[in-house]
Amino acid sequence: MKKIIIAIDGPAASGKSSTAKLVAEKLGYLHIDTGAMYRAMALKVLRHNVSPENSAAIALLAQQTSVRLISNSRGVQKVKVELDGKEVSEEIRSPKVTNIVSPVSTVPEVRALMVKEQRAMGSEGGIVLEGRDIGTVVFPKAELKIFMLADARERSRRRQKELGEKNVSISVDELEKEILERDRIDSQRSVSPLRKAEDAIELDTTHLSIEEQVEFIVKKAKEIIQ
Ligand code: CDP
Repeated sequence: MKKIIIAIDGPAASGKSSTAKLVAEKLGYLHIDTGAMYRAMALKVLRHNVSPENSAAIALLAQQTSVRLISNSRGVQKVKVELDGKEVSEEIRSPKVTNIVSPVSTVPEVRALMVKEQRAMGSEGGIVLEGRDIGTVVFPKAELKIFMLADARERSRRRQKELGEKNVSISVDELEKEILERDRIDSQRSVSPLRKAEDAIELDTTHLSIEEQVEFIVKKAKEIIQ
Protein backbone atom coordinates (compact mmCIF):
# COMPACT_ATOMS: atom_id res chain seq x y z
CA MET A 1 0.00 0.00 0.00
CA LYS A 2 1.12 3.53 -0.77
CA LYS A 3 2.69 5.31 2.21
CA ILE A 4 1.94 9.00 2.12
CA ILE A 5 3.18 12.10 3.93
CA ILE A 6 0.55 13.95 5.98
CA ALA A 7 1.39 17.56 6.90
CA ILE A 8 -0.56 19.20 9.70
CA ASP A 9 0.15 22.89 10.29
CA GLY A 10 -1.55 25.54 12.34
CA PRO A 11 -1.29 28.08 15.14
CA ALA A 12 -0.41 27.41 18.79
CA ALA A 13 -2.56 24.99 20.77
CA SER A 14 -4.87 24.27 17.83
CA GLY A 15 -4.88 20.56 18.71
CA LYS A 16 -2.27 19.42 16.21
CA SER A 17 -0.28 17.16 18.55
CA SER A 18 -3.10 15.05 19.96
CA THR A 19 -4.72 14.80 16.53
CA ALA A 20 -1.50 13.92 14.69
CA LYS A 21 -0.65 11.26 17.27
CA LEU A 22 -4.01 9.51 16.89
CA VAL A 23 -4.01 9.79 13.08
CA ALA A 24 -0.56 8.18 13.05
CA GLU A 25 -1.73 5.38 15.37
CA LYS A 26 -4.77 4.63 13.19
CA LEU A 27 -2.71 4.46 10.01
CA GLY A 28 0.32 2.75 11.56
CA TYR A 29 2.39 5.80 10.63
CA LEU A 30 5.21 7.61 12.42
CA HIS A 31 4.31 10.84 14.23
CA ILE A 32 6.78 13.72 14.20
CA ASP A 33 6.07 16.64 16.51
CA THR A 34 8.36 19.26 15.00
CA GLY A 35 7.37 21.81 17.68
CA ALA A 36 9.02 19.51 20.23
CA MET A 37 12.30 19.86 18.33
CA TYR A 38 12.16 23.68 18.43
CA ARG A 39 11.21 23.48 22.11
CA ALA A 40 14.30 21.34 22.80
CA MET A 41 16.48 23.96 21.11
CA ALA A 42 14.80 26.67 23.22
CA LEU A 43 15.55 24.65 26.36
CA LYS A 44 19.22 24.58 25.40
CA VAL A 45 19.16 28.37 24.94
CA LEU A 46 17.69 28.71 28.45
CA ARG A 47 20.24 26.38 29.98
CA HIS A 48 23.10 28.35 28.45
CA ASN A 49 21.66 31.66 29.63
CA VAL A 50 21.66 33.01 26.08
CA SER A 51 19.18 35.81 25.38
CA PRO A 52 16.37 34.61 23.04
CA GLU A 53 17.03 37.78 20.99
CA ASN A 54 20.72 36.97 20.44
CA SER A 55 20.42 35.28 17.04
CA ALA A 56 24.18 35.04 16.46
CA ALA A 57 24.78 33.20 19.76
CA ILE A 58 21.77 30.92 19.14
CA ALA A 59 23.04 30.08 15.64
CA LEU A 60 26.39 29.11 17.14
CA LEU A 61 24.77 27.07 19.91
CA ALA A 62 22.65 25.22 17.34
CA GLN A 63 25.82 23.91 15.67
CA GLN A 64 26.70 22.18 18.96
CA THR A 65 23.25 20.75 19.58
CA SER A 66 21.65 17.43 18.80
CA VAL A 67 17.87 17.08 18.94
CA ARG A 68 16.31 13.67 18.35
CA LEU A 69 12.79 12.32 18.40
CA ILE A 70 12.79 8.68 19.44
CA SER A 71 9.71 6.57 18.88
CA ASN A 72 9.30 2.89 19.67
CA SER A 73 7.86 1.85 16.34
CA ARG A 74 5.32 2.89 13.76
CA GLY A 75 1.80 2.60 15.12
CA VAL A 76 2.51 2.10 18.81
CA GLN A 77 4.43 5.10 19.91
CA LYS A 78 5.70 6.73 22.98
CA VAL A 79 7.72 9.54 21.50
CA LYS A 80 10.69 10.74 23.49
CA VAL A 81 12.53 13.96 22.84
CA GLU A 82 16.27 13.95 23.43
CA LEU A 83 18.53 16.97 23.74
CA ASP A 84 22.21 16.10 23.42
CA GLY A 85 21.46 12.49 24.29
CA LYS A 86 19.29 13.13 27.38
CA GLU A 87 15.51 12.90 27.58
CA VAL A 88 13.73 16.27 27.94
CA SER A 89 10.16 15.27 26.95
CA GLU A 90 8.53 16.88 30.01
CA GLU A 91 10.85 19.83 30.50
CA ILE A 92 10.21 21.25 27.02
CA ARG A 93 6.52 21.81 27.90
CA SER A 94 7.32 24.23 30.75
CA PRO A 95 6.05 27.84 30.48
CA LYS A 96 9.68 29.06 30.59
CA VAL A 97 10.43 27.20 27.36
CA THR A 98 7.10 28.20 25.79
CA ASN A 99 7.87 31.87 26.44
CA ILE A 100 11.08 31.89 24.39
CA VAL A 101 10.48 29.22 21.75
CA SER A 102 9.09 31.58 19.10
CA PRO A 103 12.04 34.00 19.00
CA VAL A 104 14.45 31.02 19.02
CA SER A 105 12.56 29.52 16.07
CA THR A 106 13.09 32.63 13.95
CA VAL A 107 16.84 31.92 13.70
CA PRO A 108 17.55 30.61 10.15
CA GLU A 109 20.41 28.31 11.26
CA VAL A 110 18.12 26.63 13.81
CA ARG A 111 15.45 26.08 11.17
CA ALA A 112 17.94 24.69 8.65
CA LEU A 113 19.13 22.05 11.15
CA MET A 114 15.62 21.00 12.15
CA VAL A 115 14.30 20.87 8.60
CA LYS A 116 17.21 18.67 7.52
CA GLU A 117 16.44 16.21 10.31
CA GLN A 118 12.69 16.25 9.57
CA ARG A 119 13.22 15.55 5.87
CA ALA A 120 15.50 12.63 6.70
CA MET A 121 12.86 11.13 9.02
CA GLY A 122 10.09 11.55 6.47
CA SER A 123 11.89 10.48 3.33
CA GLU A 124 10.16 7.09 3.10
CA GLY A 125 6.62 8.34 3.69
CA GLY A 126 4.21 6.69 6.14
CA ILE A 127 4.50 9.71 8.39
CA VAL A 128 2.41 12.44 10.03
CA LEU A 129 4.34 15.64 10.69
CA GLU A 130 2.90 18.58 12.57
CA GLY A 131 4.23 22.10 12.90
CA ARG A 132 4.09 25.51 11.22
CA ASP A 133 5.96 25.05 7.94
CA ILE A 134 5.50 21.38 7.02
CA GLY A 135 3.19 21.88 4.03
CA THR A 136 4.94 25.04 2.86
CA VAL A 137 8.65 24.29 3.38
CA VAL A 138 9.56 20.90 4.85
CA PHE A 139 7.40 18.74 2.57
CA PRO A 140 5.75 21.01 -0.03
CA LYS A 141 4.82 17.87 -2.01
CA ALA A 142 3.07 16.12 0.90
CA GLU A 143 0.07 14.19 -0.44
CA LEU A 144 -2.25 15.47 2.30
CA LYS A 145 -2.01 18.90 3.92
CA ILE A 146 -4.25 20.05 6.75
CA PHE A 147 -4.29 23.54 8.24
CA MET A 148 -5.83 23.35 11.70
CA LEU A 149 -7.46 26.40 13.25
CA ALA A 150 -9.50 27.17 16.34
CA ASP A 151 -10.79 30.24 18.09
CA ALA A 152 -8.04 31.73 20.35
CA ARG A 153 -10.20 31.58 23.49
CA GLU A 154 -11.00 27.93 22.90
CA ARG A 155 -7.31 27.16 22.26
CA SER A 156 -6.40 28.86 25.55
CA ARG A 157 -9.00 26.83 27.44
CA ARG A 158 -7.67 23.60 25.96
CA ARG A 159 -4.10 24.53 26.88
CA GLN A 160 -5.19 25.38 30.44
CA LYS A 161 -6.78 21.95 30.80
CA GLU A 162 -3.66 20.25 29.43
CA LEU A 163 -1.35 22.15 31.82
CA GLY A 164 -3.78 21.61 34.71
CA GLU A 165 -3.35 17.86 34.26
CA LYS A 166 0.37 18.43 34.91
CA ASN A 167 -0.40 20.61 37.96
CA VAL A 168 0.63 23.82 36.19
CA SER A 169 -1.88 26.55 36.96
CA ILE A 170 -2.13 29.56 34.58
CA SER A 171 -5.19 31.73 33.86
CA VAL A 172 -6.97 31.51 30.50
CA ASP A 173 -6.31 35.24 29.98
CA GLU A 174 -2.58 34.80 30.46
CA LEU A 175 -2.49 31.79 28.16
CA GLU A 176 -4.46 33.62 25.48
CA LYS A 177 -1.95 36.47 25.59
CA GLU A 178 0.98 34.04 25.25
CA ILE A 179 -0.69 32.09 22.44
CA LEU A 180 -1.52 35.22 20.42
CA GLU A 181 1.98 36.58 20.88
CA ARG A 182 3.51 33.32 19.65
CA ASP A 183 1.16 33.29 16.66
CA ARG A 184 2.20 36.86 15.87
CA ILE A 185 5.93 36.06 15.93
CA ASP A 186 5.45 32.74 14.09
CA SER A 187 3.39 34.38 11.31
CA GLN A 188 5.57 37.45 10.86
CA ARG A 189 9.06 35.93 10.79
CA SER A 190 10.85 36.14 7.46
CA VAL A 191 12.04 32.51 7.28
CA SER A 192 9.21 29.97 6.76
CA PRO A 193 6.41 31.83 8.54
CA LEU A 194 3.26 30.11 9.73
CA ARG A 195 0.80 30.18 6.84
CA LYS A 196 -1.63 27.90 5.09
CA ALA A 197 -0.21 26.20 2.00
CA GLU A 198 -2.36 26.93 -1.04
CA ASP A 199 -3.34 23.30 -1.41
CA ALA A 200 -4.00 22.66 2.31
CA ILE A 201 -7.46 21.79 3.61
CA GLU A 202 -8.59 24.16 6.35
CA LEU A 203 -9.99 22.42 9.42
CA ASP A 204 -11.59 24.63 12.07
CA THR A 205 -11.70 22.57 15.26
CA THR A 206 -13.41 25.14 17.53
CA HIS A 207 -16.56 23.02 17.71
CA LEU A 208 -15.08 19.60 16.92
CA SER A 209 -14.06 16.81 19.26
CA ILE A 210 -10.64 15.15 18.91
CA GLU A 211 -12.38 12.02 17.56
CA GLU A 212 -14.12 14.08 14.84
CA GLN A 213 -10.86 15.78 13.85
CA VAL A 214 -9.05 12.46 13.67
CA GLU A 215 -11.83 10.83 11.67
CA PHE A 216 -11.84 13.71 9.16
CA ILE A 217 -8.11 13.42 8.48
CA VAL A 218 -8.00 9.61 8.43
CA LYS A 219 -10.87 9.59 5.89
CA LYS A 220 -9.04 12.03 3.61
CA ALA A 221 -5.83 9.99 3.95
CA LYS A 222 -7.59 6.74 3.06
CA GLU A 223 -9.11 8.35 -0.04
CA ILE A 224 -5.58 9.20 -1.21
CA ILE A 225 -3.99 5.88 -0.19
CA GLN A 226 -6.63 3.81 -2.00
O1 CDP B 1 1.99 22.79 20.96
P1 CDP B 1 2.02 24.26 20.65
O2 CDP B 1 0.98 24.61 19.66
O3 CDP B 1 2.04 25.12 21.85
O4 CDP B 1 3.39 24.61 19.94
P2 CDP B 1 4.46 23.65 19.32
O5 CDP B 1 3.89 22.96 18.13
O6 CDP B 1 5.07 22.83 20.38
O7 CDP B 1 5.54 24.70 18.75
C1 CDP B 1 6.27 25.53 19.61
C2 CDP B 1 6.91 26.64 18.78
O8 CDP B 1 7.89 26.10 17.93
C3 CDP B 1 5.99 27.43 17.87
O9 CDP B 1 5.32 28.49 18.52
C4 CDP B 1 6.96 27.93 16.81
O10 CDP B 1 7.61 29.10 17.23
C5 CDP B 1 7.98 26.82 16.71
N1 CDP B 1 7.76 25.91 15.57
C6 CDP B 1 8.22 26.32 14.33
O11 CDP B 1 8.74 27.42 14.19
N2 CDP B 1 8.12 25.48 13.27
C7 CDP B 1 7.57 24.28 13.39
N3 CDP B 1 7.50 23.47 12.32
C8 CDP B 1 7.05 23.86 14.64
C9 CDP B 1 7.15 24.72 15.71
